[in-house]
Amino acid sequence: MNIALFGPPGAGKGTQSKKILEKYNLTYISTGDMLRSEIAEGSDLGMKAKSIIEQGGLVNDELIIQLIEKKIKTNPGSKGILFDGFPRTTVQAYVMEGLMLKLNTSLNCMISLEVPEKELINRLLLRAKVSGRSDDNLEVIKNRLKEYENKTKPVADFYAKKHKYYLLNGVGEIDKIFENIISIVEQTKSVSQTNIVLLGKPGAGKGTQGNLLAKEFGLIYISTGKMMRQEIKDGTEIGRLAKPYMDKGEIVPDEIPIQLIERKINENPDAKGFTFKGFPRTLIQAYIMDGLLQRVNMSVSAMIDMKIPTLEAIKRLSARGRTEKARPYDKNAELIVNRLEQYKDKTNPVIDYYKNQEKYFSIRAEGSEKEVFENLEKKVEDILHDAY
Ligand code: AP5
Ligand code: MG
Repeated sequence: MNIALFGPPGAGKGTQSKKILEKYNLTYISTGDMLRSEIAEGSDLGMKAKSIIEQGGLVNDELIIQLIEKKIKTNPGSKGILFDGFPRTTVQAYVMEGLMLKLNTSLNCMISLEVPEKELINRLLLRAKVSGRSDDNLEVIKNRLKEYENKTKPVADFYAKKHKYYLLNGVGEIDKIFENIISIVEQTKSVSQTNIVLLGKPGAGKGTQGNLLAKEFGLIYISTGKMMRQEIKDGTEIGRLAKPYMDKGEIVPDEIPIQLIERKINENPDAKGFTFKGFPRTLIQAYIMDGLLQRVNMSVSAMIDMKIPTLEAIKRLSARGRTEKARPYDKNAELIVNRLEQYKDKTNPVIDYYKNQEKYFSIRAEGSEKEVFENLEKKVEDILHDAY
């Protein structure tokens, strides 16, 4: 989880940061605080920044980047970052993007606190009595506000275009504002999770590739087919209900896979995301899936269609039918054709559903296991990068 707090001097970034850090275990990056401690230490960097800060200007981007790099290096494996006062220029916004890519993560949201100028000045003059900050005096405050207008405000557009910018009223009770911040953070948590739906004809290799994919990207693999076979094996009530459908190669009534998926999601509250194999398979299931994920603040990131020609599917399934991995429905041509037909009828609307949401992607699923995985991996990487 990565959050950026944005807003003019005195908006309450520092005040809200304290509260956010009490709630979430994040690394705190406040470029202002870091600069002030460099100055206090009398470091080279601090000396370069000192006079700029005293005049209310912005310290140059190079120095800021150095500071941030240093902080990240000393906090490896962090659960996320809270940025206070960064990015403050468009250049820094690009740096932020690069940084997130490097850390293989993304910014969830930029939350901007809006406060009228008069109130800002009042707050900072009041703070001046206790803060000891060299930049808390009227003349410098005015400069800081001007710098904000000219150089920092354009950063808002950068994030608005990415649909990551949230404007909040920063006037009012501190606790109330905090509540509003939390609700945005919770609402945007889902974006950082990667949930991939793998679809494709029976025999397309969803199981093989889904497992590899989950391993590669640290996701939890969810195969409703596999879970139902396990239930049957364990002789559970769910298994008993699912068995007749599974044996015939038919789609099992929705309430059965849904229960299993819900259970699996609940068992993994800290998952980075999930790979869903062969679910949703019907339009209704696609809607159910969205509802199910929404309840835990998640959403489908992408649906990947693993494409193979029908003849290839028949070949693969009948070949599997002659091995020990054979499923009951692999064993004769009629069942195989039946499944392929069901797939076409029921799954086409699912594909349209994701196309409409611009979440549909496809790969060629012919070739060796390794070749197919390379296609899949590349596709997922592209999808993740586009999400920035
Ligand atoms: P920085 O330290 O980041 O200062 P700033 O942006 O000017 O913001 P402040 O810290 O003054 O305000 P805040 O929004 O944190 O408000 P606070 O919670 O304290 O930067 C300082 C300087 O460093 C910059 O001018 C620049 O030179 C340099 N710098 C830093 N980062 C840089 C970067 N990335 N690039 C280039 N240069 C950089 O609240 C203010 C007061 O209001 C407090 O007294 C608080 O108690 C009160 N208050 C808070 N909320 C409320 C409320 N809801 N109602 C009433 N009072 C409230
Ligand atoms: Mg501050």
